[in-house]
Amino acid sequence: MFKRKTGISLGCDYNPEQWSPDVWREDVALMRSAGIDLVAVNIFGWSNVEPSPGRYHFDDLDEVIGLLHENGIKVNLGTGTSSPPPWLSSLHPEILPMAADGTIRFPGGRQAWCPSSPVFREKAYALVEQVAQRYGAHPAVALWHVSNELGCHNALCYCEASAVAFREWLRDRYRKIETLNEAWGTSFWSQRYSDWSEVQTPRAALSLRNPAQIIDFHRFSSDELLGYYRDEAAILRQHSAVPVTTNFMVTAHIRNLDYWSWAPEMDVVANDHYLDHRLGDPVAELSFAADLTRGLAGGAPWMLMEQAAGAVNWQPHNLTKAPGEMLRNSLTHVARGADSLCFFQWRASAQGAEKFHSAMLPHAGTDTVAWREVLRLSETLDRIAEVAGTTVESDVALVFSWESWWSSEGEARPSQAVTYLDQVHAAHRALRELGVTTDVVSPDADLSGYKLVVVPCLYMVSDTAAQRITEYVENGGHLLVTFFSGIVDERDRIRLGGYPGAFRDVLGVLAEEFAPLLPGHQVGLSNGATGTVWTERLRTTTAQAVATYTDGPLPGVPAVTRNTYRDGLAWYAATSLDPRGLRELTRDAVTAAGATAAGPESGGDVEVVRRSGDGRSYLFVVNHGTQPVEMSGHDLVTGAPITRVDAGGVAVIKEERE
Ligand code: GLA
Repeated sequence: MFKRKTGISLGCDYNPEQWSPDVWREDVALMRSAGIDLVAVNIFGWSNVEPSPGRYHFDDLDEVIGLLHENGIKVNLGTGTSSPPPWLSSLHPEILPMAADGTIRFPGGRQAWCPSSPVFREKAYALVEQVAQRYGAHPAVALWHVSNELGCHNALCYCEASAVAFREWLRDRYRKIETLNEAWGTSFWSQRYSDWSEVQTPRAALSLRNPAQIIDFHRFSSDELLGYYRDEAAILRQHSAVPVTTNFMVTAHIRNLDYWSWAPEMDVVANDHYLDHRLGDPVAELSFAADLTRGLAGGAPWMLMEQAAGAVNWQPHNLTKAPGEMLRNSLTHVARGADSLCFFQWRASAQGAEKFHSAMLPHAGTDTVAWREVLRLSETLDRIAEVAGTTVESDVALVFSWESWWSSEGEARPSQAVTYLDQVHAAHRALRELGVTTDVVSPDADLSGYKLVVVPCLYMVSDTAAQRITEYVENGGHLLVTFFSGIVDERDRIRLGGYPGAFRDVLGVLAEEFAPLLPGHQVGLSNGATGTVWTERLRTTTAQAVATYTDGPLPGVPAVTRNTYRDGLAWYAATSLDPRGLRELTRDAVTAAGATAAGPESGGDVEVVRRSGDGRSYLFVVNHGTQPVEMSGHDLVTGAPITRVDAGGVAVIKEERE
């Protein structure tokens, strides 16, 4: 990838347009002293490099890129199209995006453009052409950074240009209007279309909207921005042989792009990740996001394109990082497959909406904890350089689907308390607490190499994916499915005959109705666990009940089951188990499957992940807890043999392998 000679690269977003040229010089000198070797520029550069229509001004960017180059720092070059300049939205207000309620989103923030706008595309592609021509062969440019976080704010646009593009996309998918009618179930509520021109984007309506239309609108919107990415990438490739990527947002609150379809188009998969203190367990979510990013990269090393040195500015309460925390966050990403760590941003802004966002170089300068933590990270990366290029070992997979996320959280559903990501996080966290490293994979993935596959809350599943999962069990695989899975096909059409539809046979159960619980209510289980959110009137067909409800609406009814299916074994949890209960069930499933834990069962306090390859093997130990953990071997971080990793500490143990 883009590395310090050999090893893990350390980089940042740099916004020199916010500073004067004398600051640029100081910046580059400090970057050198911090061992930074990959710098992203021109991310929000449009109004600087094209200050008025068709008049390009590259002098400043030339100078900054030249400075970085002279100092041996590689450039991750933004195409600059993420935020259009005011002249463009003034001349062409039709590029502005429209929200579901029909109101326009105005400029003044960022990303105020409709992904389908022909005018926006024309102007953006013209800029990309200029940037690519000018810098395509520049020796400093090591990576192209298309736009920025595509779809962060503008993924769903409901304007007329979007409607035109949506219709085209639908024609391509269904060919005949009758096929669309069937797919959307338009016999319901008199929604039958007689012509394509009648189809609209799913704008706000008086009542519940057609859920199949909404799912297709999500698919369309993801494809539309992917098409946009492809167009920018194609222009870059005409002028340059340098790899192209864009930064994904595999995170808890952004869900509009189906990155399973995007990832194959990236020359290197890159993700932005910020600790989110609105979540119950932000550190566990970081591990999940890293595992999912690795899944998107097909197991290959990936880049962390953005993280924060300290606090962000966009949560209600923006917590800083304690000394050692940023290093633990960083090494967790590396442990889970990152070969490049970059930050947003280099120097903290003095003005603008992000002036309270942390940076590698804080407002207070270099005599700060934050700066010393950056130097500590840089040194650590030097010491562990040899891990670069190795891959993460895991024999457990968790199936993740953006389509299921979109569709399971539709407007009208059995319970608003079923939130996809919470269920996914819970399943991943249980494995992490057991010391098991998990690959996060797509519903269409080849599962044959795994000992255990966990399928949390996979509401929407295609016939092909369902069959693949079933065959995996037939052939001896072990499966753990949690409630509200297998319910509908890709058209959001219920799989009739009883729930959990697609997985009824493999699980050996049949539910005749759902019985969700009110907030604050819980049910007891015969194995001592408790359930919240959900129960269902379930009976076993070929499965055995592992636990039944002791109270609640369905006493005596199976809550957890286990089914031998051909050569494999399939477990089902029909309720949202409490964390301990879910961990116990997961432990039983892991043990029965003979799956591997790289580290001790620590309840998540200690993360242990193995990276290996080419006869080399490294055990990453990240101790988030308050107690030391015993671990022995030669530690690359300290450069010495160790017998334990202190509370809050990290180690990378080089293992002897034949
Ligand atoms: C995103 C963006 C950056 C910046 C950070 C702040 O990741 O890509 O430009 O706004 O968020 O956390």
